[in-house]
This record gives sequence, C-alpha cells and structure tokens, in this order.
Amino acid sequence: MAIGTILVSTGSYVPEHRLTNQMLTEMVDTSDEWIIQRTGIRERRIAVHQTTAELALGAAQRALEDADIAPQQLDLIVACTATPDSYTPSIACRVQAGLQAERAFAFDLSAACSGFVYATDVVDSYFRAGKAKTALVVCAETLSRIIDYTDRTTCCLFGDGAGAAVYRWSDTEDGILHTVMGADGKRADALFAEALPSENPLERGADAVSSERFLKMDGKEVFRFSTRTVPEAIDQVLDGSGMTIDEIDWVVPHQANLRIIDVICRRYGLRKEQVYVNLDRYGNTSSASIPICLDEMRRNGLLQAGQTIILVGFGGGLTYGAVLMRM
Ligand code: COA
Repeated sequence: MAIGTILVSTGSYVPEHRLTNQMLTEMVDTSDEWIIQRTGIRERRIAVHQTTAELALGAAQRALEDADIAPQQLDLIVACTATPDSYTPSIACRVQAGLQAERAFAFDLSAACSGFVYATDVVDSYFRAGKAKTALVVCAETLSRIIDYTDRTTCCLFGDGAGAAVYRWSDTEDGILHTVMGADGKRADALFAEALPSENPLERGADAVSSERFLKMDGKEVFRFSTRTVPEAIDQVLDGSGMTIDEIDWVVPHQANLRIIDVICRRYGLRKEQVYVNLDRYGNTSSASIPICLDEMRRNGLLQAGQTIILVGFGGGLTYGAVLMRM
C-alpha cells in the first residue's frame, strides 16, 4: 500500500450578518443587476463583532468534530489570512490555544486568495518530509475591515468567513496526487492592502496617521491574470498526475467572480454541475472560499470516496495554485 496525504474532514464558520446587494445600493451608486451580472454575487457575510481568530477557531472546531480527532493529535496548524488581528501572535497560535492543541507547531502563511492551496501543499510537503502526520489548515478572513464601502468597484466583491480542513498522512493509493503553485510579484499592485504606514513613527506626527488603509484593486488586471493562470495551473496538475480533464469529477475554484469561473468551464468543457459555486451567498472570502466550498460539499453529500477533484486558487501577490486529489 502506498502512503499519501488524505483529506479527513472539513469545517466552516461564517458570521450571521448578511450584507445584500440591495443594502449596498444604499451605500454606493450601484444596482443589484450590475453586481449579479458582472460578478454573480447576491450577498456576503460580515463579521460585525468577531475577530479573524474567532472565525478561524469556529471553523477549526467544526473540522475537528467532523474528523473525530482530538486537538492533541494535531502536529501542525497552518493558518491563512490576509486580515490578521495582530502582527504577532499569528492566527495559527490563537487557534492552537483555543483548541488546546498543545503538541502542534503553528504558523500563518500569507498567500491571499491562494492561501488554502498553498497551505495544502505545505502540509503535504511536511508530511513527505516526515515532520508531521496530522495537520489542520484553517483559513479565515474579515475582509470587511479593509474594504472601502464608498468604493463601488471593490465593496460589492468581498465578504467574511472561515473554512478549515484536517489532513492526515495515511496508507492510501489516493489523496493528494499533484500540486502546483506560482506567483508573479511584479503584478503586486493589482491587489494591494497596506499594513503598517511606511513612514517611521518617530518622524510622523500624530495627525499623519491614517486609518484608511483600504484594499485597492485593478479589477481588469486581476481578471486577466486569473483567466490566464488558472488554466495553466489546471493543465499542470493534470499533466503532473497523468490525468485528463475527463477523469475529473469536481473543480472547486476560488470564489472571486462567476465570469472567471465561466471562462474555466468553457475552456475545459465542464458541466455546471462539476464546478462548485457558492459565491452568490458569500462573495469573495479570499483564502476561506475553497475550504468553505469543500465543507458545504461534504456536508451535502456531494463528495464521494474515489472522486477526483481539482482545487484552484488565485489572488493577491499575485499568486495562484492548484491541487489534484482523489477522495
Ligand atoms: N456598480 C455599478 N457600476 C460599477 C460598479 C458597481 N459596483 N463598479 C464599477 N462600475 C462601473 C465602472 O465605474 C465603469 O463605469 P464607466 O464605464 O462609466 O467608467 C463600468 O462599471 C465598467 O467598469 P469595469 O471596471 O470595466 O467593469 P468590469 O466588467 O471589468 O467588472 C469587476 C469589474 C471588478 C467586476 C471585474 O473587473 C472583476 O471581476 N475583476 C476581477 C476582480 C477579482 O476577482 N478580484 C479578486 C481576485 S482574488
């Protein structure tokens, strides 16, 4: 029997508060029709009173309950977020404390919307290196904290939420078959959110401190990047695992825009039922979008043993990546 990385369980946690397209029309000059037509999004969830770490812990707890694995069995926790609550500690350490997963080493990984795919590859690599056998990946975002709700070009796209997955190094012929990751730092400005002000605090006066550090995006550039790199990543994981698209049961893309997903469907001749979409209900939750999809699919009985699935992410960095696994 071969050995490989299997997905054991998933969990997700989204805040209660809904921000509908109709509500956005009261904030900026937009319409329900425009947002649906250009993005496919109808509403998103907003973490009004919750931190990123709280969302992360909620998703992580559900993933562990689903796995029937005690937190003390975890060797590794990788958290992904573009919206951490603090520079230190990491979200992963907050989750480790919240779970009482004392044995796990824990760190955050920054790859924006490609976070889940990158983290899955990192976990698989640690497993292959013999440094861990049971790992939690948790992706959580409170993007509403960096969205400018006076900017109609970005505010309709993003939402808050968290998703998690438990992976295990196991005897199997299946599991993760191939991974691909890429980045193009030259296009960094196409999706940009500042962290600390670049001025030295010793030099700037108190009134120079701006609290308006909002996400800025060149939508067309990101669109072009994703419609080029997503097929490249899919082609590469197919090549790497010696499979063709006809052998794939599911494609789970990062949930950014229905038009980007339509491009993928047309390019590969995929049927709508093969491509999981929930962005109408959550918008773009960055790193959390793929694990939230996986969790919905598992809980709704859509993922069956033996199925092949491609996860494909893209976003800030700019970054992209894909994972091909057999359930
Ligand atoms: N409501 C109404 N009109 C809007 C609007 C909104 N929310 N946002 C932009 N517009 C307007 C623009 O101002 C522009 O008006 P103008 O022609 O008078 O200048 C017009 O709509 C067309 O804008 P454009 O930017 O060309 O639209 P688009 O078809 O490129 O769609 C995005 C914009 C953002 C939906 C699209 O570029 C996109 O999805 N990009 C990818 C973004 C993404 O996925 N980012 C995250 C990746 S992880």
